[in-house]
Amino acid sequence: MRVISSPNKIRQALIKYKLKGKTIGFVPTMGALHQGHLSLIHQAVRDNDITVISIFVNPKQFGPKEDLNKYPRPEEKDLALCEKAGVDFVFHPKSKDMYPDNFTTYVSVEGLSQVLCGKSRPGHFAGVATVVTKLFNIIQPDIAYFGQKDAQQSIIIKKMVRDLNIPLKIKVLPTIREKDGLAMSSRNSYLNIAERKKARVLSQSLNLARILIQNGARDADRIINRMKALIKKKAAKIDYVELVDPDTLQPLKKISKDYFIVLAVKIGNTRLIDNFQGRCLN
Ligand code: PAF
Repeated sequence: MRVISSPNKIRQALIKYKLKGKTIGFVPTMGALHQGHLSLIHQAVRDNDITVISIFVNPKQFGPKEDLNKYPRPEEKDLALCEKAGVDFVFHPKSKDMYPDNFTTYVSVEGLSQVLCGKSRPGHFAGVATVVTKLFNIIQPDIAYFGQKDAQQSIIIKKMVRDLNIPLKIKVLPTIREKDGLAMSSRNSYLNIAERKKARVLSQSLNLARILIQNGARDADRIINRMKALIKKKAAKIDYVELVDPDTLQPLKKISKDYFIVLAVKIGNTRLIDNFQGRCLN
């Protein structure tokens, strides 16, 4: 496994394989790897000749009051996990490699980036879309892998790839959960023991919605209010709980064929997200 920090050097290293017709799978990450990332890496290794992962805590996607400085960076552990998982290249740039002085170009996916997480994290998705575009240009993968836990991010990236004719395929893989249902996230490490217990309420509220829908509930407000009541009981602070159309992310009044239930909740100072995508045939 090679670890490379220069965009030009990794592009040169990969071009050899591309010229030989080898396929390149790419998993972009901000490090602090967990089983969720590893499931993406394992899939990339299975699908492709060469697997590249990037580890870059992207400053452009953090707001001024967010956790950029405290974001976990367990470098050695991450590299050991990559090596064990069969990664061929780790792209690990410094901020100045990605954002040289006087960097002024941004990618913005209008509409989808301004709702849900985009409302409480203005500029976040422009930061994500910009860095992911740069990473795609540098690595030029055949397939890029994202997790369903960051559902809005995946939807935005798919739209960006379509709108900008970026020649690659996006694969979105299921959320990996802890035994008690909590979706795996690098930010779970911020939770103390009491908060960790409370954090179960995210997946519990999604399960409640699932049961209500199985039992015939179709009205979005009714489902959302029941979820909110459960979350509030655990003294968690709700950012949003919404039932939306999976393509437009616009709120639905009633469950329709395809729907998406998405939520963001603050447990102590830690903001966590989760979701499930459903299909209702009656
Ligand atoms: O999901 C993440 O870890 C990040 O948003 C990504 C896609 C690596 C861009 O920085």
